[in-house]
Amino acid sequence: MPLPKAELHLHVEGTLEPELAFRLAERNGVRLPYADTEELRKAYEFADLQSFLNLYYELMAVLRTEQDFADLADAYLTRAAAQGVRHAEIFFDPQAHIARGVPMSTVVEGLWRALGNSEAAHGVSTRLIMCFLRDESADSALETLEAARPHLDRITGVGLDSAEVGHPPAKFREVYEAAAALGLRRVAHAGEEGPPAYITEALDVLGVERVDHGLRCLEDPALVERLVRDRIPLTLCPLSNVRLRAVDALTEHPLRRMMEAGLLCTVNSDDPAYFGGYVADNYHAVRAALGLTKEQMRELARNSFLASFLADDEERRARYLAEVDAYEFSAAVP
Ligand code: HPA
Ligand code: ZN
Repeated sequence: MPLPKAELHLHVEGTLEPELAFRLAERNGVRLPYADTEELRKAYEFADLQSFLNLYYELMAVLRTEQDFADLADAYLTRAAAQGVRHAEIFFDPQAHIARGVPMSTVVEGLWRALGNSEAAHGVSTRLIMCFLRDESADSALETLEAARPHLDRITGVGLDSAEVGHPPAKFREVYEAAAALGLRRVAHAGEEGPPAYITEALDVLGVERVDHGLRCLEDPALVERLVRDRIPLTLCPLSNVRLRAVDALTEHPLRRMMEAGLLCTVNSDDPAYFGGYVADNYHAVRAALGLTKEQMRELARNSFLASFLADDEERRARYLAEVDAYEFSAAVP
C-alpha cells in the first residue's frame, strides 16, 4: 500500500498521456503533427520551461468537449488513487481553452463530471484551482475571473502559471484582489525559473498562501527565514525540475536541504504525463536520490495535508493525517 498523500501541484492538462491524446484526436477529428504515440514521446525532450509549454499547449487541441475533460480528469484520478493520493488540488488553464473556442462552462463542467464523482469512484477528495496564464495580459486574467463567476461553487482558488521570466506577479495584483474578495484561495508559481524576488512579490502583492515551486528561494536567506517563520508551504516538483533543467540531476535537488532548513516542503508531480512520473514516483525518486529517511517521507506526506485547502473540512484533514501517522513502511524504505 502506498503512503497516503495529497497532491497540491498538478496541472490537469499535464496529465494528458499520449494514448489518450491520440484517442481524443480521433474522436474529435483533430490531426496531431505526430505519426503515433512513439513519435510523440520522442518530443518529450525539454531544454527549459518554454520548450515544454510549446508542446503542452499544442496537445491541448484534442480537448474539445465536456466528456474530453471528464475523461482526462478521470484518468488522472485513477492513477492518483493507485499512487496513494487521498486528496488532490487540481490546476486548470481556462485561457488556453477559451482561446481555442472552448468555453469556460465546457471545461469546468467537464472536469466536474469526474471530480464530483471522485470520492465515490476513487476515494480521492478534490479541489479545483483556476490558473491565469502569466504571459497573457492582466485584462485577460480579469475577463477569465469574470467568466468563472457562474462556476465559483466548483472552484476553490486561483493560481498563476505558464512562462515565468519577464512576467512578475505584480502584473496580476488587481485580479488577485478581486479573487480574494470573492473568497477564493490564492497560490502562484514563483521561483521555478524566475528570481527569488518573484516569490517575495507573490507573497506581498498577491497575498498567496502557498508558493508553487519556490525552488529559487534558496538564493535569498532572508526569504528562506520568512518562509520558515510564516510556515508558507512550497509545492516542489522534483522530476519536473530535472526535465525542465531547473536542477542538473535529481541527486542535486535541494529538497532535503530545504526540509532540513525547516521549510514546509511538499512533493508533487506538476505535469506527470510529460515528466516521467506521477506523485508516488516523485516520492520514490527523491527517496532514492537523496537518501530520505522514513520519517522524512512521513513528514512530506503530513505536510501535503497540512498545506492543503481542507480548512472547510478539518475532520477530513485529521483523518488523513492519522492515516499518515499509522502508515507502516515496507522494509525496503530506510
Ligand atoms: N510551470 C509553469 N507553468 C506551467 C507548468 C509549469 O511547470 N506546467 C503547466 N503550466
Ligand atoms: Zn506547475
